[in-house]
Amino acid sequence: MYPKQLLLALMGLILSSVQAQKRIPEVEQLLQKMTIDEKIGQLNLLTPGGGVATGEVVSQNVGEKIKAGQVGGLFGVAGPDRVRKAQEIAVKESRLGIPLLFGSDVIHGYRTTYPIPLGLSSSWDMDLVRQAAQMAAKEATADGINWNFSPMVDIARDPRWGRIAEGAGEDPYLSSKVAEAMVKGYQGEDLAATHTMLACVKHFALYGAVEAGRDYNSVDMGKIKMFNQYLPPYKAAIDAGAASVMTSFNDVDGVPATGNRWLLTDLLRNQWGFDGFVVSDYTSLNEMTQHGLGDLQAVSALALKAGLDMDMVGEGFLTTLKKSLNEGKVTEADITKACRRVLEAKYISGLFDDPYRYLDFSRPKRDILTMEHRALARKLATRSFVLLKNHNDLLPLEKKGKIALIGPLADSRENMLGTWAPTGDFKLAVTILEGFQNVASEASINHARGANISDDTDFAKNVNALGERIVIDERSPETMLLEAVDLAKSSDVVVAVVGEATEMSGESSNRTDISIPESQKELMRALVATGKPVVLILMSGRPLTISEEFAMPVSILQVWHPGVEAGNAIADVVFGDYNPSGKLTATWPMNVGQIPIYHSAKNTGRPAPESGEFQKFRSNYLDAPNTPLLPFGYGLSYTTFEYSNLSLSKREINQGESITVTVSVNKTGD
Ligand code: NOJ
Repeated sequence: MYPKQLLLALMGLILSSVQAQKRIPEVEQLLQKMTIDEKIGQLNLLTPGGGVATGEVVSQNVGEKIKAGQVGGLFGVAGPDRVRKAQEIAVKESRLGIPLLFGSDVIHGYRTTYPIPLGLSSSWDMDLVRQAAQMAAKEATADGINWNFSPMVDIARDPRWGRIAEGAGEDPYLSSKVAEAMVKGYQGEDLAATHTMLACVKHFALYGAVEAGRDYNSVDMGKIKMFNQYLPPYKAAIDAGAASVMTSFNDVDGVPATGNRWLLTDLLRNQWGFDGFVVSDYTSLNEMTQHGLGDLQAVSALALKAGLDMDMVGEGFLTTLKKSLNEGKVTEADITKACRRVLEAKYISGLFDDPYRYLDFSRPKRDILTMEHRALARKLATRSFVLLKNHNDLLPLEKKGKIALIGPLADSRENMLGTWAPTGDFKLAVTILEGFQNVASEASINHARGANISDDTDFAKNVNALGERIVIDERSPETMLLEAVDLAKSSDVVVAVVGEATEMSGESSNRTDISIPESQKELMRALVATGKPVVLILMSGRPLTISEEFAMPVSILQVWHPGVEAGNAIADVVFGDYNPSGKLTATWPMNVGQIPIYHSAKNTGRPAPESGEFQKFRSNYLDAPNTPLLPFGYGLSYTTFEYSNLSLSKREINQGESITVTVSVNKTGD
């Protein structure tokens, strides 16, 4: 062993004994009373359906299993009445009456949906991120949820990957700050308080680096990149006190994360000192069989030994651990250890004091979708928008004259919330048309759809797997286009709303072509050809390739998927009530061939010439520059600034030291 590894191993031993000292007497007494079957039962997380099932299996006979002490927690169940019913079965009808945890994916707001996480991160405002998480926790706990499958902190540098929408982009430092802010927002100071919930940092680990941007795919990464670029945000969430960790579907160094002992025990617990519990992702335990690691019994024993404590939906632990115990493949101590961690989470949530503490029937009305929350969602959305281009200073628009609001996303309630908003209700969302009417009521605002989000029916079918997000109009594309062009010609200014439907990003929503779909490109070309001033409101869950549109004489505002207050927030910025301040947190490539592309790329021994010109035998492309269309950190405002006098506090820096950078910023515009 190298001296450093030896030191880490020793620290690990010390940490485990510290953890042992922290044992909770009530939990230890309970463990004494539990049979082995009851302990295994606590390791089982089920979903009876009703939420979004992200796999092919949905749990069966859930009530019976709770009664038999075979369930530690549920997800996909919400509302004080439904949660109470399930909790009562656990408390009143199971032998030991151990309460259940109730989990949920509260990814960007509970009912008051705010911008997708990639958008929220573009605010670069950690206090706002914390407030957003706090609001989500207040609403979710009002509905009986006490455990959140968030934050998702996977570094993502491949915008083909649909789940880039769920994280904070490409940078480990920024993502770490966002991770910390979200954990603090969800968990507050006291996890037993009725407005706080357990956080679950996911997906541990490296899930954002799936090959070719294809979800659930393999990951292969060296340790330098892993520790410098990909692991810091998980560590930051743990340092901030995240109570649980969710494993990822991919392998890490050749071993699936869900059964990876190095990852779940050596690193997470022994080096980082994590003392909460680890849950698998949806059937990721069972999927270790597909990875080639044996049958359900073998992979369950392997995962338990590796450090997995709870099995999501797969029932591998439930159905095989007893057999493995009898066959000497796991020990009772292994099972007890995992069970203890789950029980400790219940204890710190206050569930042993009062299993119904999150079930106050008056709360949903009082705490969910309040005016105050909607106001915060509107503010968060305005802070997330990024002004990509302001041709001839066209923006902000005046609240007068004839405005043609055109595009398939301009009056599309179903696409405002964004991916992973199963607890939200798109029917409550403000469309852009409504937002414009609310904010600029003096102007004459007319709408034409102009195009379908996509004319490709096969593509639309795939996108619409969870509900109709791409609606193909009964009218022909030509008819829609003509109507839009006519409207544009008779207006003073055109505002075109184009981009991605909600489910074009998110889980299992990867794209090999990340441009604006052809039907909408056609629309843009036709609108620009009218010669009218054009504003492009661009909606997406990922960086897009927009070289063609960027070259057009248009102003472009990137709005992600803004949430329930979408239309109002967009109107606030378009009409200048708020000056856009968002900055990109993931690089926008010129074309798909540049991917992966990100700001902290290492030097090569043969760097491309700074002029950007091609040079033979240098690290460059024949057909495109190395630089992206829009770099990390990019974002304009309605005024201009000048940066000067940049200076560093010192010229050299050693490990562990910091450096102060000073710069003068002057506002030079109006
Ligand atoms: C699968 C997803 O990968 C994960 O993020 C989510 O929390 C679970 N499904 C539960 O819905």
